[in-house]
Amino acid sequence: MIHHDIATLRRLLDEADHVCALTGAGVSAESGVPTFRGDGGLWRDHDPTRIATIGAFRRDPALVWEFYNWRRALVRSVAPNRAHLALARLERRVPDFTLITQNVDGLHPAAGSERCIEIHGSLWRVRCTACRAVYEDRAEESAGDLGPAPACARCGGLLRPDVVWFGEPLDPLLWTECVEACTACDVLLVAGTSAAVQPVASLALEAKSRGAVVAEINVEQTPQTRYMDFVLRGRAGEMLAALAPED
Ligand code: OAD
Repeated sequence: MIHHDIATLRRLLDEADHVCALTGAGVSAESGVPTFRGDGGLWRDHDPTRIATIGAFRRDPALVWEFYNWRRALVRSVAPNRAHLALARLERRVPDFTLITQNVDGLHPAAGSERCIEIHGSLWRVRCTACRAVYEDRAEESAGDLGPAPACARCGGLLRPDVVWFGEPLDPLLWTECVEACTACDVLLVAGTSAAVQPVASLALEAKSRGAVVAEINVEQTPQTRYMDFVLRGRAGEMLAALAPED
C-alpha cells in the first residue's frame, strides 16, 4: 500500500537514525536548471542524453564542450532552491545522513550539504584525457566558459568535464559508499529523478529490499512509483520543505 501522508513520513524521519536521499535533475528544476528528460529537456535541437555520452565527445568534443559551457554558465547564474536547503537542514538533524545526487551542478554543496556523493561527477571539475589529472575549474573570469577545446594546464592534453557519461562506469569507491548507505538506511527519499538511469535507480529497490521505508517525491509517476511506501506528488521544493521545515 502506498501512503501519501506527509506528517507520517515526517515523523518517520524524526525517529530515524540513518536516512539517505537520492536526488536527480528535478530537484534543481526550481532553481531554473533544465532537466534531462521531459518538457524543456532539449538543448537547441539536441537531446542532452545524446550529448552527455563518451561517443559524442569522441565525435565532436567542441559540441559537447559547448553544451557543458552553456550548463556551467547557466548554473553559475542560479542559486540553490528550497529543496536543496531542506536536504541540508535534514542532514543537520539526522544522526547519520547521506545525500546521493545524480546532479553535476554543485547546488547541494552550495546549499550546505556536507555529506554529498556526486555520483555522476561535477560540472566544476575537469579531467585531462591525456594525463588523467583531475582538477577543480570554476573559470570565474570567463563566466565558466572554457571554450571549445580547453587544454590541460599540466600537459596540454584535451580536457573533458569530470562527469560520468552514458557508457562509462561509476567511480567504484563512490558507488560502494552509495550501496552501503542505502542498504543501512531506515528511510530513503528519492526526489526529482526519473529513475531511468542505472545503476543509480537500483538503489531504491536495494534499500527497500533491506527493509528501508522508501519515499518518492516527484511531480510525475516514475517506473518505481509502484514499489514505493510513500509517494508525495508535487514539487521537490514544497515537499522537502514540508518534511524538513525551518526551525
Ligand atoms: P531526468 O531529467 O531524467 O528526470 C527529472 C525528473 O524530475 C522527472 O521524473 C520529473 O518528473 C521530475 N521533476 C521535474 N521537476 C520537478 C520538481 N520541481 N520537483 C520534483 N520533481 C520534478 O533527470 P535524472 O533522473 O536526474 O546522467 O536523470 C538521471 C541522469 O540522466 C542524469 O544524471 C544524467 C542524465 O542523462 C548523466 O549525465 C550521466
